[in-house]
Amino acid sequence: LVTMKEADYRPLYHFTPSLHWMNDPNGLVYYKGTYHLFYQYNPNASVWGTMNWGHATSTDLFNWKDQPVALAPDNSGTIFSGSAVADAANTAGFKTGTEDPLIAVYTLNGSQQQQSIAYSNDGGTSWTKYANNPVLPNAGVPDFRDPKVFWYAAGQKWIMILAVGNKVQIYSSVNLKSWSLLSEFGANLGAHGGVWECPDLFQLPVDGTATTKWVMLVSVNPGGPNGGSATQYFTGNFDGTTFTSDSNTVNWMDYGTDNYATVTYNNIPAADGRRLAIGWMSNWNYAQQVPTTTWRSTMTVPRALSLVSTTAGAVLRSQPVLELSNYKNSTPDTTAQGANTAIKMLNSKLIGSGSYEIDFTADLNSTNTLTLSIGNIVEKIALTYNKASGLLSVDRSKSGHIDFNTQFQQQITCPYIPKTGLPTDFQVLVDKTSIEIFVDHGEKVITTIYFPNYQYTDLKLQGDGNASVISNFKVKGINKSLR
Ligand code: FRU
Repeated sequence: LVTMKEADYRPLYHFTPSLHWMNDPNGLVYYKGTYHLFYQYNPNASVWGTMNWGHATSTDLFNWKDQPVALAPDNSGTIFSGSAVADAANTAGFKTGTEDPLIAVYTLNGSQQQQSIAYSNDGGTSWTKYANNPVLPNAGVPDFRDPKVFWYAAGQKWIMILAVGNKVQIYSSVNLKSWSLLSEFGANLGAHGGVWECPDLFQLPVDGTATTKWVMLVSVNPGGPNGGSATQYFTGNFDGTTFTSDSNTVNWMDYGTDNYATVTYNNIPAADGRRLAIGWMSNWNYAQQVPTTTWRSTMTVPRALSLVSTTAGAVLRSQPVLELSNYKNSTPDTTAQGANTAIKMLNSKLIGSGSYEIDFTADLNSTNTLTLSIGNIVEKIALTYNKASGLLSVDRSKSGHIDFNTQFQQQITCPYIPKTGLPTDFQVLVDKTSIEIFVDHGEKVITTIYFPNYQYTDLKLQGDGNASVISNFKVKGINKSLR
């Protein structure tokens, strides 16, 4: 058994802060070939505290370069979550040079939570807070935060969606400096186990056609499907003023415990057309106690979102972005034994590397159970499908370090009924301390973190008895140097 040290916990292809505490992704904006990732950051300690916007940039969503803190607290307050836009038409009047001004819209957390803006005229390198902040003052509402702003072309105006207690409010502006309330949504719909946070609103094609729907993301904490924090979504229509939901069912973007505050990129060129999302890969239940000390928290793998229609209505799919292929080994590992029945990779160097992708399909109509377990002789994390309960579940109760918080040991479940006559597609991303399970091309997702005491070297995958339920099994290493 090889003992894991803190340095072994740092993911290879997921974003982590070099030092200290991170939570929500903020200000996701693409500008001239660069993806900007700002994030809730405490530069002074590895727990939540005086929040700043940390900053990193990438041209491919994987190879991140640390940038100086973009927004730091001042006498008026600390910097909470928000978004960023490229103001190509200079609607706010901040433009001084040749670059489009990038404008950050964030919550100033002072004596109250109020919305403020800051601008950059050098493509996001340096930032200046607007002199007349806040742009959206608060008349005493306790939770009034996390503005997501986007350009609503059909109405030639900016739209802001804001989390306000147990609902969202939608505002509009022509100049990003003065905002008017258009509508409210959600007080009586969706999951309300806790306060609403970090909303997003965007349009997506249905089944890749010209028909579109609007999707609203709303994070809620606590009240997630497996406890603590999680992100729900609504599909529906937005007419420039009001969002109307298709149904009153609760939909979760991810059933795992570890995908929160998920928001999407602004300003992706139309020729690309993707809706790209990143979430914080932790949970407020235990995020400040996970067993790393020099840094804490990781972002999810960047995901492309799409809508598919089903008999139960439109379903949001999340899939890892294809840029990940640039880091995958071109040839899969071929050492798996017992293909299609009981697959085993024991003492595998590839599994030992801790960073790889597992792909397979499984005919879950022909088996009562299917179990994927990854571990060593004393520890494991296991994904199980159980037909009788109609659940996919992840058990991390024997995964290693589990005692830093009692909630960390609980079973994680996701309702799942296999499609009639169709095998289930699994894409599983592992990166040192995380497993992201994409089922049926991301219609169901389970994202979970874990902390082995000893290096995991063994993979086992099997259904009932000797039934040949598994096809197309392959494991590919993912190689990237730590930045
Ligand atoms: C969500 C959140 C936001 C807030 C930020 C503070 O995780 O609570 O609502 O802006 O974190 O760090």
